[in-house]
Amino acid sequence: MTATLFDPIQLGDYYLKNRVFMAPMTRARTGPAGIPDELVAIYYAQRASAGLVISEATAVHPRGDGWPGAPGIYTDEQQAGWAAVADAVHAEGGRIFMQIWHMGRAALSESIEGQKPLAPSPVAATGEIPNSKGVPTAFDTPEAMSAAQIREAVSAFATAARRAIDAGLDGVEIHAANNFLIDAFLRDGSNRRSDEYGGSVENRSRFLLEVVDAVTAEIGAGKVGVRFSPTNAVFGISDANPEAIFTYAARQLSRRNLAYLHVLEPALDSGSPMSAGLPLLAPALRESYDGLMILNGSLTQQTGQRALTSDAADAIAFGVPFISNPDLVERFRNNIALSKPNPDTFYGGGAEGYTDYPAKELESA
Ligand SMILES: Cc1cc2nc3c(=O)[nH]c(=O)nc-3n(C[C@H](O)[C@H](O)[C@H](O)COP(=O)(O)O)c2cc1C
Repeated sequence: MTATLFDPIQLGDYYLKNRVFMAPMTRARTGPAGIPDELVAIYYAQRASAGLVISEATAVHPRGDGWPGAPGIYTDEQQAGWAAVADAVHAEGGRIFMQIWHMGRAALSESIEGQKPLAPSPVAATGEIPNSKGVPTAFDTPEAMSAAQIREAVSAFATAARRAIDAGLDGVEIHAANNFLIDAFLRDGSNRRSDEYGGSVENRSRFLLEVVDAVTAEIGAGKVGVRFSPTNAVFGISDANPEAIFTYAARQLSRRNLAYLHVLEPALDSGSPMSAGLPLLAPALRESYDGLMILNGSLTQQTGQRALTSDAADAIAFGVPFISNPDLVERFRNNIALSKPNPDTFYGGGAEGYTDYPAKELESA
């Protein structure tokens, strides 16, 4: 029987109430110390009717924490903030995984005490992002990581996962997408190394697999997902043969009994700067990966349902629709029109454009 978006699903260690998941979204509201406060807890609790809430990317190491307002999970204070978020989501009957990242070459130097960002090779990310004063800032050329720095980063992911679980989160999603550190190791445009972490697909997958193995050893595979964005070009990331590297990596992940693989692909016709216009790889990853797959990227209720019906995915993650529709699941269920988000309030600021999008019943009350 075909699954619907509203059917429950066993995902790793958890039996989830539906297949409408909330995609990870950086909202940059956790201040210079990266500590989620009560407002952040309210934001996530409002969205707890998602089958799974995946948190915004959360830094595992200070050197990988290079955007103003993005949260971390490497200090006790950050961990305490996240514990309150997990409690708030659980009180509303939800489940939450923390997306964990090291930003790698995309860290702004000013946010990492003037140090150079770290990456597999000294290849800078392209484009600009706002610094702490809101001024668009280009990325620095990163420093190529030493073997010791690689070991330190692997162990930072495992420590972060342990902290997340101890804080009461249900699991972690390892962020291996969107040009950040793990993705930069995977793709050959950013990985020019000649040691055991560069060159062949086996070598370029090594850092990812070391992180996955360290994290699963720490918290168990049923609490761990991985996110790929195999065909996007965000921040200038590229690969000469994405199918080769990502299907290889997916086959290696298959053996590890993870909770899921999460695949973000921009719609080919979206005209989005995220899109490299490459043929989509989700079908090839579905073939290569033996386990649950979440699909994301400009999907609607209709196209998401179609992906489930055609067995292209097991669950669907929605990003922007969840920003302006905290009750997205109920709106889908009852064919209620979606409210439009305001992109000016996506990143930074306070409650406006964050916790003040009403649920439909409140609107009509
Ligand atoms: C404001 C905003 C912040 C985002 N932050 C993250 C993030 O922290 N981690 C991540 O993997 N993707 C991030 N993304 C990408 C989303 O998870 C998602 O892949 C993208 O929005 C496409 O899905 P959608 O069309 O359903 O929104 C972000 C997207 C937006 C709009």
